[in-house]
Amino acid sequence: MISILILIYLLILWFSSCASQSKKNNNTNSDIYSYFKVKSSNVDRIPTTLPTHGILLVIRTSNYTQRSRMPVILKTWFQFSPDTTYITTNGDAKYFHQFLSKQYHDHLHSTKCKQAHVIRALCCHSASEFQIYFENKNKYRWLCRFDDDQYVNVPLLIHYLKQFSPDTQPLYIGKPSMQEPKHGHGIDFWFATYGGGVCFSRSLLEMIHNDVQPNENFMKGCISTNYPDDTHIAYILRVKYNINLTVANDFHHHIERNLFTNLTSPSNIDQAITLGFKGSNVPRFVPLVKNDVFHMQTLHCLLYPDVNCTRLLRILINKFYEDNKS
Ligand SMILES: *[C@@H]1O[C@H](CO)[C@@H](O)[C@H](O)[C@H]1NC(C)=O
Ligand SMILES: *[C@@H]1O[C@H](CO)[C@@H](O)[C@H](O)[C@H]1NC(C)=O
Ligand SMILES: *[C@@H]1O[C@H](CO)[C@@H](O)[C@H](O)[C@H]1NC(C)=O
Ligand SMILES: *[C@@H]1O[C@H](CO)[C@@H](O)[C@H](O)[C@H]1NC(C)=O
Ligand SMILES: *[C@@H]1O[C@H](CO)[C@@H](O)[C@H](O)[C@H]1NC(C)=O
Repeated sequence: MISILILIYLLILWFSSCASQSKKNNNTNSDIYSYFKVKSSNVDRIPTTLPTHGILLVIRTSNYTQRSRMPVILKTWFQFSPDTTYITTNGDAKYFHQFLSKQYHDHLHSTKCKQAHVIRALCCHSASEFQIYFENKNKYRWLCRFDDDQYVNVPLLIHYLKQFSPDTQPLYIGKPSMQEPKHGHGIDFWFATYGGGVCFSRSLLEMIHNDVQPNENFMKGCISTNYPDDTHIAYILRVKYNINLTVANDFHHHIERNLFTNLTSPSNIDQAITLGFKGSNVPRFVPLVKNDVFHMQTLHCLLYPDVNCTRLLRILINKFYEDNKS
């Protein structure tokens, strides 16, 4: 069974590389093959039920994108841990009632934040994520926040965070988008791009509690530095608390180039804890279903196959076979 899945995975990669016009070196396919032969033993260890964890997952969406992007998230990675996953939006939160059973309706958080991609609006959205944490803080030892154009491999995230002690270590974890630290207001500091996902430990959150309340104070601070929300958080942490970013190499954001083009290194797909998408920066799989936003459903199926999606895979493979014959 497992080897069949791996073979299907290889076929999909192979067909999709044939389909794309880009030039590949001549040993691309054998590299992928040897990579997955080594990796295939891991597939058995994919957990069907998650270990208990104290991670609050918050997804930020917006009135503008929730209808196009959220349904596939709710079908895929939201399902890993629905009891600990919350959604914040400036759109109509009732929209989600059709996807979520009643017990999750109080996981929906409405904001009055403006839609625009300007500092004030971003900071307003940011504050709402911290607010969700502080309203539920007794239950959680981590806050991890994500955007609606991300895939999160929650089992890997849980495993990754196990190495830390969130109650005693003030941790700010994520992936920078720049090669060099940000320089401004007289200091250098690294910040993690929110688009790659960012996690904060309980001990850090307790420390910054007063700095991130959804009030004018936070907004004024945010606006005075003239930084977007992700940069501003890093700035506060550095200046006020001397806390630096802990880099998570397996977090990935949409700004990384070659994230999905380098087929000789598929490690960035199945070891990735988070993936960010944008435009054509999506996995190079032939999508399994129509309107597969960011190819997320196909990605989820390849990482965590279930009966339904392997059936779709078989249909797709047959179709390729027939097309190639004719
Ligand atoms: C195939 O790749 C090898 C090394 O990766 C190179 O030496 C060789 O010239 C390549 N052959 C062709 C036909 O591109
Ligand atoms: C939210 O989106 C809907 C549909 O796209 C639109 O009709 C409505 O005006 C938007 N509301 C706000 C507050 O932007
Ligand atoms: C954070 O980084 C700065 C500059 O890179 C360094 O001077 C400072 O000691 C670091 N703080 C901690 C707590 O490691
Ligand atoms: C592609 O992957 C190969 C093998 O892992 C690596 O050596 C190479 O630097 C990668 N190229 C790019 C453009 O990322
Ligand atoms: C598989 O498909 C059936 C029929 O469409 C549906 O009832 C079931 O919920 C699906 N299972 C999963 C895990 O999506």
